[in-house]
Amino acid sequence: MLLVFGLAGCSKEPVTNVGKLNFDNLLKIPQLLEPEIDADGTKHFSLTMQSGTTEFLSDKMTDTWGFNGSYLGPTIRASRGDKVAFDIENNLGETSTVHWHGMKLPAVMDGGPHQMIEAGETWTPYWTIDQPSATTWYHPHLHGKTAQHVYRGLAGMFIIDDEDSKKLPSNYGVDDIPLIVQDKLFTSDGQLSESDEGTFGTLGDEILVNGTYDPYLEVTSSQVRFRLLNGSNARAYHFGFSDGRSFQLVANDAGLLEEPVKMERFLLSPGERAEIVVGFEPGDETILHSYDGNAGIENGEFDLLKIVAASTLTESTPITGQLSSVQPIEAPKDAKVRQFKMTMQNQINDKSMDMYRIDEVVPAGTREIWEIHNFGSEHNFHVHNAAFRVLDINDKLPPEYERGRKDTVYIPNGAKVRIVVEFGDYADPKHPLMYHCHLLKHEDDGMMGQFLLVEPGTESEVPRELPHND
Ligand code: C2O
Ligand code: CU
Ligand code: CU
Repeated sequence: MLLVFGLAGCSKEPVTNVGKLNFDNLLKIPQLLEPEIDADGTKHFSLTMQSGTTEFLSDKMTDTWGFNGSYLGPTIRASRGDKVAFDIENNLGETSTVHWHGMKLPAVMDGGPHQMIEAGETWTPYWTIDQPSATTWYHPHLHGKTAQHVYRGLAGMFIIDDEDSKKLPSNYGVDDIPLIVQDKLFTSDGQLSESDEGTFGTLGDEILVNGTYDPYLEVTSSQVRFRLLNGSNARAYHFGFSDGRSFQLVANDAGLLEEPVKMERFLLSPGERAEIVVGFEPGDETILHSYDGNAGIENGEFDLLKIVAASTLTESTPITGQLSSVQPIEAPKDAKVRQFKMTMQNQINDKSMDMYRIDEVVPAGTREIWEIHNFGSEHNFHVHNAAFRVLDINDKLPPEYERGRKDTVYIPNGAKVRIVVEFGDYADPKHPLMYHCHLLKHEDDGMMGQFLLVEPGTESEVPRELPHND
């Protein structure tokens, strides 16, 4: 007994579910949300935020939240150039917001902490999609409550198509499969534990994929595109396959790579996405796996999803050659450089989030170099209304899996990461956008800052404090 306590006290127990799963449950695929087409061609989508119960574990009903259902939300799909509009009804009984993570849009449509949707109200954002194809997502962003609202189940995927992306497998649910990966800690009666005393908040020991516990999937095509979203509050995953098979990485968070890159493993921290194309032979069996990375937010080893290939497969040609026709994001010669210091205290530049303070004013439509330096603990960094390319990590090129267009990047303890950020074109001196750590407890603790995108040349005229209207 003493020995057991001693071990638990001084070394971190490796967390694992390997050997525990039977892969009994068919992977759920979130439904595609059908829009109504308005007279002017706008695709009009309706979402309702609601509470409910979900049976993740057999014979146990878990209290959860979801959009148009009890857990997660439907997948939204639209093309570059589409006009989209939403009715988002909040039936949660408390205030929330819905943020479009990865979307370039007017700041007032962003769904960050300022665009609150009160209980019983409906929010109606609209914009024109004007960015390259990407796997984006939506989730609440109420300041101080983001971790709880996302953890209870409010999240969904938002796929943007363009001419480039249609060259890849695109038949949703058949050879184009969303995989939303989230760790959960269940109480003995099957409820989601919200105890979050640790540095990173709740780190679960069970992993759900698309809200499915113990999942398997049958594929029927020789080339399958998987869109992976790390929708966890804090845990990072080192994705790979149990048989060591390689695959083609085809996209990072904010769009397609210039060409596919063959690899066996890659890391996604919370909020990050990647698209991969995996080849299968008839009858293949493999397990999507997460390898132990030894850092706090990636500690542990997990089986995530068993994949079985049918005995006859629809043949499709392997992916080669050019994917994206969009130029990589380059810094102009005279690019402005801004520095961001992330610390153990969950602050950025020694400040905690203040809803009324403007931390940075950026000319709309420009590119800047942002240097992010992590002085303690583990963090990542996400910028709203922007896409960026990672220039270097500790002066070295980033790993091959994070060289494309991104909007969120892992910042290891002690690391200095430089990114070149391409900001959205919409100027709005009244409505701030966010940059923050996407470990949701850190974000809620105040590890977030606000920036304005303004007409170039007007930076010095803009007040650094927002009006208090109370
Ligand atoms: Cu995914 Cu500011 O958020
Ligand atoms: Cu975001
Ligand atoms: Cu953090």
